[in-house]
Amino acid sequence: MAKARVAILISGGGTNMAALLYASKADTCPYEIVLVASNDPDAAGLKLAKAEGIATFSKAHKGMERAEHDMIMDMAIRTHRTDYVALAGYMRILTPEFVARWEGRMLNIHPSLLPKYKGLDTHQRALDAGDSHGGASVHLVTAELDDGPVLGQTAVAIIAGDISESLSARVKLAEYQLYPRVLADYVSRYNNADWLLQKVEGLALALPETHARASHGSAGFRVGSEKSGKFFAYFSVQHHGSDAIGVLVKTGSIDELETLCEQQPEIYWKPAFYGASGWIGVRLNRPGVDWDHVHEWLERSWRSVAPKSVTKLMDVAEEF
Ligand code: GAR
Repeated sequence: MAKARVAILISGGGTNMAALLYASKADTCPYEIVLVASNDPDAAGLKLAKAEGIATFSKAHKGMERAEHDMIMDMAIRTHRTDYVALAGYMRILTPEFVARWEGRMLNIHPSLLPKYKGLDTHQRALDAGDSHGGASVHLVTAELDDGPVLGQTAVAIIAGDISESLSARVKLAEYQLYPRVLADYVSRYNNADWLLQKVEGLALALPETHARASHGSAGFRVGSEKSGKFFAYFSVQHHGSDAIGVLVKTGSIDELETLCEQQPEIYWKPAFYGASGWIGVRLNRPGVDWDHVHEWLERSWRSVAPKSVTKLMDVAEEF
């Protein structure tokens, strides 16, 4: 299975970057680090990444418009065919455009138990409040600062006599365990057949006049009545020696099927038996699946077998 390609953005020491990097050395780790980038050319973490043979990039932000700097960072990230961005002590507020481009694919680590203490001085604020615990959170990045859905947290006990520095040092130990684990789980949710089936089901059953119907032990989706409906999609889990989990949909011709499989083998495969009658497999257990693209395939396949009366209604609805 291809590993998810991760770019890490840092501004300073990069010790979380190092934790992500060394965790990625395990054969079983589902991600690899393809780039470490910084807004500070002197960031200590860059030297370490370079020494470890990882590509690095830096661009000082001083004197630049925020949007322009974000764009340059984004270009560097894309050059490395990045699937995910991991912010690790990247002390820059990002433009909404940059955040939107990486929606659902950018994570951050923050040194508090979110939603408590967004922003800076998190440890001192936890101490001042008399909290029993500080901690760290990994969350998806959204336009609002330190606000996206939390993917994982570790609480760290506050000890009598703690000052910000001592608490921060222990929270960091927790961060080094938390971030690699959460990132690994997040990028490998695409290998989880139940999760994938749920996504496909949501898209397939949102099309008009559809219902689910098992076929040869696999989930299938039909359009039309329960009695005379026709299949427009099958969910396929590692059938006939293939390692693919995906959805089978109808192409226009065997030629189209063969061409797609040849040109984009990482996305398409020709399924045993079904392939002969024009069904193509769209692989879903890979990083960076474009779900709009899956939706387009489902709709096209649905259209090819749906009764005219139903597709006409859809056409009318789409005109408005
Ligand atoms: C980490 O503790 C991280 O949680 C924090 O910066 C530190 C970076 O250290 N991030 C933030 O405060 C983001 N709001 P590192 O460069 O040694 O990984």
